[in-house]
Amino acid sequence: MRKNIQDFQGMKEAGIKISMLTAYDASMSSLLSECGTDMLLVGDSLGMVVLGYDSTVPVTMEQMVHHASAVRRGAPDIFVVGDMPFGSYQTGIRDAINNGLKFIKESDCDAVKLEGGQEVCEVVSALVRSGISVMGHLGLTPQTASQLGGYKVQGKELPAAEKMVADARALQDAGVFAIVLECVPEELSTLISKDLKIPTIGIGAGAGCDGQVLVINDMLGMFEKFTPKFVKHYAKLAPLMKQGVQEYLAEVKSGTFPAAEQGFSCATDYSSIFREEE
Ligand code: KIV
Repeated sequence: MRKNIQDFQGMKEAGIKISMLTAYDASMSSLLSECGTDMLLVGDSLGMVVLGYDSTVPVTMEQMVHHASAVRRGAPDIFVVGDMPFGSYQTGIRDAINNGLKFIKESDCDAVKLEGGQEVCEVVSALVRSGISVMGHLGLTPQTASQLGGYKVQGKELPAAEKMVADARALQDAGVFAIVLECVPEELSTLISKDLKIPTIGIGAGAGCDGQVLVINDMLGMFEKFTPKFVKHYAKLAPLMKQGVQEYLAEVKSGTFPAAEQGFSCATDYSSIFREEE
């Protein structure tokens, strides 16, 4: 059965960890749903792991809706969060609401996620007032990584940590139902998780968060370009995939694929079609 935001709140209160993974297409979301994942994120990491961009910045609303719709079709019984791409909520409250509504209506996702702290709280409140459930995202926020000095751990120094705590409290007050904490020292994310009433979902933020999220292509070892320190490979699929592809290529070249069992045959005599005209 599809969980809802009250279920996630109840899980935090009961000390039950929340499991989240990213998905970008129907076959993967179906598989992750079958495994019992609590919620899926159609992350704008789509841009890097699927679309081949160097960052999440170029990803568009259309691309996000296209992929989130596929994720929903593959997994009708799972809570799906759609990531608002860069530029879809920075140009004013009206644009943010229009894009948030488009996401929910066209892809049937249950909630949207957006990056930032106090500076996005007005937008968050407006989205929540419009009936859209919102997840926050603090720490390393990839859409604005260039302003953070790159893909670095955030909140190591006291002033940055104080700001993160203030941001988390402000997001909670603005109405987010959960907050992703990315690349945050475990000591700080644990304190933030205890301080907030709502759940935190960590990625590179240690075990003290109320849940965890990983990019599916990273944790299954499908994405070989680089591996962030916080990723654990639960499988190493890339070598297996390459081995399978290489076997197929060799069999195509040698003519051993397809064999009789992969083909169709029938007893019809086709020779009359090819008889030369007199
Ligand atoms: O885009 C994404 O996949 C994310 C996760 C890393 C949290 O935002």
